Amino acid sequence: MTATPAPPVLTVEDLTVVYEVDEPVTAVRNAGLTLHRGEILGLAGESGCGKTTLAYAVNRLHRPPARIASGRITFHDRSGEDVDLLALDDRELRAFRWDKLSMVFQGAMNALNPVGTVRAQLRDTLLAHRPRMSRKEVQGRSEEVLRRVGVDPRRLGSYPHELSGGMRQRVMIAMAMLLEPQIMIMDEPTTALDVVVQRDILREIVRLRDELDFAVVFITHDLPLLLEISDRIAVMLDGEIVELDTAAGLYRDAKHPYTRKLLGSFPSLSGERGAFIRTGVDQTAGAPTEERA
Ligand SMILES: Nc1ncnc2c1ncn2[C@@H]1O[C@H](COP(=O)(O)OP(=O)(O)OP(=O)(O)O)[C@@H](O)[C@H]1O
Ligand SMILES: [Mg+2]
Repeated sequence: MTATPAPPVLTVEDLTVVYEVDEPVTAVRNAGLTLHRGEILGLAGESGCGKTTLAYAVNRLHRPPARIASGRITFHDRSGEDVDLLALDDRELRAFRWDKLSMVFQGAMNALNPVGTVRAQLRDTLLAHRPRMSRKEVQGRSEEVLRRVGVDPRRLGSYPHELSGGMRQRVMIAMAMLLEPQIMIMDEPTTALDVVVQRDILREIVRLRDELDFAVVFITHDLPLLLEISDRIAVMLDGEIVELDTAAGLYRDAKHPYTRKLLGSFPSLSGERGAFIRTGVDQTAGAPTEERA
């Protein structure tokens, strides 16, 4: 991070999300964070601490029994306009999602429609938001996003079952980039993949961020990985954000005992960290090669 952070693109204040079941669960409690333009913010914490619930609430994708009990979520548009996300109606929300903020869901590898080709799924999302795009423009944009994530555009005609897990995941990331959103929330986008594919994809996300300047909220319980790719990291424990610092600051000088415990639970963190992906980015700064994974 530079000394002067970029302006904010998203502010979450005092957010509380409750699952209204027999014994209500407060899955997110008074959470606050600011996401800056173009930054990669890691969100770490053990299973069940509320990461996905937080991401869904920010995207207004939470469904009953989940309820936002309190808080404010503000999107600071590039145009200078501030949007109160909790005040949007359904139509406004549909226009907002994918366009300004997109999400790659946990288990997204299986989120593609099995009976639609990649082309059809990219086209449907594009046309829902840009109804006046010509067929040629739709084809051009679809090819471009696939190329950006390292998938051969010839795959446009493929069905999801014809793609490897890594490729399906890349297609989901391509879908999330399709409308050039200002924020991408990625919920465990790579945990189901093997380590090499995971690294490749992460490297690409960092590179794309460098090129296209969107902000990323990257959710995982893999703290070593977050330390490598994130500008800042928020640590969640039992629904609360207990620490938020730069990756370097957190690594050097974690304040919260839980963060220290988390750091201590990864033996790999005792050695040199962080060189791999960031160096990798520099080395792969050109066009992505086709058809990895
Ligand atoms: N539909 C639901 N009804 C009741 N409780 C729920 C529901 N969904 C989630 N929870 C509870 O909310 C808490 C937070 O869950 P959440 O899925 O947000 O955690 P997470 O940090 O994303 O976990 P993971 O790392 O396993 O994905 C957990 O205690 C979970 O049991
Ligand atoms: Mg989750």
